[in-house]
Amino acid sequence: MNLMTRLAAGLALTLAATGAHAANVLVVLSDENHLDLKDGKVLSTGFYLNELMQPVKLLLDAGHEVTFATPQGRAPTVDASSVTAAYFGNDAAQLTLHKDLLEKLALTSPTASPVVSLARVEQQGYARFDAVYIPGGHAPMQDLLKSPALGRLLADFHLRNKTTALVCHGPIALLSTLPDAGSFVAKLEAGATPATPKWIYSGYQMTVISNQEEEQAKPLLGGGEMKFYPQTALQRAGARFSSNATPWTGHVVLDRELITGQNPASALEVGQRLVERLK
Ligand SMILES: *[C@@H]1O[C@H](CO)[C@@H](O)[C@H](O)[C@H]1NC(C)=O
Repeated sequence: MNLMTRLAAGLALTLAATGAHAANVLVVLSDENHLDLKDGKVLSTGFYLNELMQPVKLLLDAGHEVTFATPQGRAPTVDASSVTAAYFGNDAAQLTLHKDLLEKLALTSPTASPVVSLARVEQQGYARFDAVYIPGGHAPMQDLLKSPALGRLLADFHLRNKTTALVCHGPIALLSTLPDAGSFVAKLEAGATPATPKWIYSGYQMTVISNQEEEQAKPLLGGGEMKFYPQTALQRAGARFSSNATPWTGHVVLDRELITGQNPASALEVGQRLVERLK
């Protein structure tokens, strides 16, 4: 047997032994490498390494397939400030392990990235996916929150009660399902208070990076200020927000098909919950 055949046979055995079936999980990331702040300032960002890679590694280790997509199909960018052992329990070996897996997947490579556009995902049909996962970093605040293609996808998953998992700034992407996400977001960005809209996630319990955590993280914005905070935005849209008691500790909320994690420290548990759901 060649290596691939042996790997495939080993995987089939593992899956048979656990009674599990291989699922296909769609991971949606931002195309953007920055977030526009107030007063024309700009924050360089992207996705957080641990928020993407801890769940992805758990999914791959459990024998599942992972498909990566961004709205335009551009290779996503890792937020450089997230490439530190601090987000991996100060364990340098864990940082290396997850960084190496990201490199092996070539996800951020402009030429070799396996990432597809959301138009392509829509064309191939949502039926082949069992769940969707959206990690944070600030980049989803730039595009995912008002992406019509993502809104259609999430609405379909909601309708079919398919697991929808999001972490940190990722849950802001749920706004894309609003009837007019663009104008809702424009009002928030202008500092206005939009009227509470009709929303498929209205009344859902969820979490997202808290206003308190955003205030504490302000020094990382290089003197800039965010146009609005995700907690305020999701509450305005009709979410029932819940928070950890101590900032930056892990907090995961389950409500129907939704799994949300509050911050980087919640990513591993969100990944575990997601894998549990796929059994
Ligand atoms: C939707 O999925 C959740 C989580 O798997 C489950 O608890 C719930 O019963 C499902 N709801 C329906 C209507 O199937």
